[in-house]
Amino acid sequence: MLKAVIMAGGNGTRLWPKSKPDFPKQFIPFFNGQSMFQKTVNRLATFMRFEDIYVITTEKYIPYVKEQTELPDENIIVEPAAKDTAACIGLAAIHFLKKNIDPVLITLPSDQYIDGEEAFQTAIMTAYQQAKKSPGVVTVGIKPNRPETAYGYIKVKEGGAGLALPVERFTEKPDLETARRWIDVPQYYWNSGIFVWKASVIRSLIEQHMPLLAGSLRRIQASIGKSDANHILQQEYMDLHKISIDYGVLEKATCIYLVPGSFVWDDLGNWTALERLIDKDREGNVVVGEHELLDTNNCIIYSEKAFVGAIGLEDLIITVTDQAVLICHKDKEQEIKKLFLKNTYRR
Ligand code: GDD
Ligand code: MG
Repeated sequence: MLKAVIMAGGNGTRLWPKSKPDFPKQFIPFFNGQSMFQKTVNRLATFMRFEDIYVITTEKYIPYVKEQTELPDENIIVEPAAKDTAACIGLAAIHFLKKNIDPVLITLPSDQYIDGEEAFQTAIMTAYQQAKKSPGVVTVGIKPNRPETAYGYIKVKEGGAGLALPVERFTEKPDLETARRWIDVPQYYWNSGIFVWKASVIRSLIEQHMPLLAGSLRRIQASIGKSDANHILQQEYMDLHKISIDYGVLEKATCIYLVPGSFVWDDLGNWTALERLIDKDREGNVVVGEHELLDTNNCIIYSEKAFVGAIGLEDLIITVTDQAVLICHKDKEQEIKKLFLKNTYRR
């Protein structure tokens, strides 16, 4: 039994101000009126039954899920709060285990650009075959073509054979120097964030490596069907720390396999991702909208309506929406989310 759980509860703040907590990037119709979330659902629906596709998100994003897909209500798993992907995947696993079923789950992001539907399907089905017989997790890996500090890196064991390669080590978001070193090592892959594993394997890996989260999940599971189930779910979630599955489980787990994905893949996670999708002008600028740039090099200018005049700028990201303006040095773009740490309303 194969089921997919699309994670769609992230707030996409690194693409602020286009993407923002009340309308995050996965739901923005970037592609001919379709969002990355919709494209993720449609991609799965080419080879899976609609009723086997689930989404996990928080209450405030449910209107987008309903507006953009026709997934049945019972396929929407609701989290009381976004506590990052470890809690999200753990809750998804007990959603099935509580019904006494133990499907193989594809837990996957909703914020990715993928081109090559057939290659995607092949990778997933290969991972499924491996996950059915393995007590571990199967990752889909992508061959790196640049050093990247926003992704996880997976090193496969030397001499591994077969369609699913045994993994030696998983490293989440290495620093730039490390990522540069690994670019020439053929055993390294990027983590696509697409994991294929049995629900029971998710639970036991969390038990092994994240005892606090495991305790909460156990209490949530035990309360299901009882009158205080919702109260306990809210209560347990309130106390959870935000930890991603990559740091919480993948960096520690020993039984990991990797299936290489041969489709085109990108995480449109930050503004510099536009440089990979849109042709640059002669001065190295990526410009979206009609603007005037003088003596300006290597900048990203994104403004759909307001005209931008830029003079003498270098290596900057300038984005303008109806409500906000971002001006950020390219070197600092991983820090855009810090703008959200202060408790000010961000439009
Ligand atoms: N339901 C729910 N709840 N979804 C969440 C939550 C949450 O608390 N937090 C994040 N998500 C969703 C996001 O919407 C996204 O679709 C996916 O989970 C991954 O989260 P990101 O926050 O985008 O992760 P990342 O891009 O920093 O890193 C992950 O993905 C990279 C590839 O795109 C890691 O898995 C990296 O190792 C990987 O390389
Ligand atoms: Mg991402």
